[in-house]
Amino acid sequence: MNPAELYLDFPLLRDNDDEERLIFLDNAATTQKPDTVINAVSAYYRESNANVHRSPYRLGEKSTDLYESARSKTARFIKTADDKEIVFTRGVTESINLLATILSDQLLKPGDVILLTEAEHHSNIVPWQIIAKRCGVKLEFVKLHGDGRFDLSEIESNWNPKTKVFSFQHASNVLGTIHPVNELCEIARCKGAVSIVDGAQSVPHFGIDVSDMGCDFYTFSGHKMVGPTGIGALYGRRELLERFDPAFGGGEMIKRVSLFESEYNDVPHKFEAGTPNIAGAIGLGAAIDYLEKLTMKKVESMVNSLAAYALERLSTIEGLAVHGPQTDRTGAISFWMDGIHPHDIASLLDGDNIAVRAGRHCAEPIMNWLKRPATTRASFYIYNIREDVDRFIDSLNRIRGLFKNVS
Ligand SMILES: Cc1ncc(COP(=O)(O)O)c(C=O)c1O
Repeated sequence: MNPAELYLDFPLLRDNDDEERLIFLDNAATTQKPDTVINAVSAYYRESNANVHRSPYRLGEKSTDLYESARSKTARFIKTADDKEIVFTRGVTESINLLATILSDQLLKPGDVILLTEAEHHSNIVPWQIIAKRCGVKLEFVKLHGDGRFDLSEIESNWNPKTKVFSFQHASNVLGTIHPVNELCEIARCKGAVSIVDGAQSVPHFGIDVSDMGCDFYTFSGHKMVGPTGIGALYGRRELLERFDPAFGGGEMIKRVSLFESEYNDVPHKFEAGTPNIAGAIGLGAAIDYLEKLTMKKVESMVNSLAAYALERLSTIEGLAVHGPQTDRTGAISFWMDGIHPHDIASLLDGDNIAVRAGRHCAEPIMNWLKRPATTRASFYIYNIREDVDRFIDSLNRIRGLFKNVS
């Protein structure tokens, strides 16, 4: 693995007929997939396809072994010693909806409070709004300050004793901010609330240790860390997974079923009703293998140094303001260029074969906080190189020039 040429492992970035190489800077939305992940998914369908946990023949055992070994890799990757604390889901959105359903049915009472933050992705807001309407719980929000951080003492002093759930992101998909999750989990624990951490933008970027963090639940999506779409994981403390009944019923999640009653399966299977995304889980396992071979330390340092270089070069562009912190951040950089709408910037960059996101990034409350209708976001990952930053900056300077001539 040559870190300077990782893009050669990614067919979409490597096998490109365009004159200029595609510069993919929309990694906070989803990442490209290396050959090893694509091949693992394809090999599963070619060589091992059978349903899991129920097929009494060797092919079925092979498929089950591959699926369960992906669960073990996932557990090891986020540092829980207990594979049974890993529930496969479609990703963060499904995990949070699952938790919202379970907790509203089995923990929350009318008048209770769910604490979220102003920085959340819609997937950590809307599921809670749905259950708040349905069961009369209240939503409260931690405020953002400065360059996009929370004030821990403000959280403690404003804590509503009726708060039963505190659900927050580990890192922002808009500002790149990395939040102090250990401290946030500690506050939730001391106050007797269930903590839920959205790891969509953190698990891809640095090593995660859920045991050290002390969270109750932690979730992430495979497609943002070179894995397939439609697969992710929900970590839950064993004691909590055992305490709560499942939200969905069907095959696989039961031990016995009679016409009026069922006995549920053990964790984690009681939360995985129906045929799971077997190929996706195996692909996620291959993605973890890929990142572990590189090491998460290296992933972190590569993306950090690229983001630092991009921030330095962005600061030279006239009328461009970066939102979010300069340090202690991931590779997601949102910015505003005076006089040019983010959608125009994105489509002009696309003309130079550079892919970025423009819009509200599924985080409208942050846009309101920033007082911007939208931003442009460049987000870096392991296969980006300094030359990508240079081409991106050259293109932005060209766009700046175009709009200067118009006005
Ligand atoms: C911070 C954050 N949370 C949640 C999500 C939702 O992830 P998914 O669409 O994979 O469920 C995203 C995706 O962009 C995200 O960036």
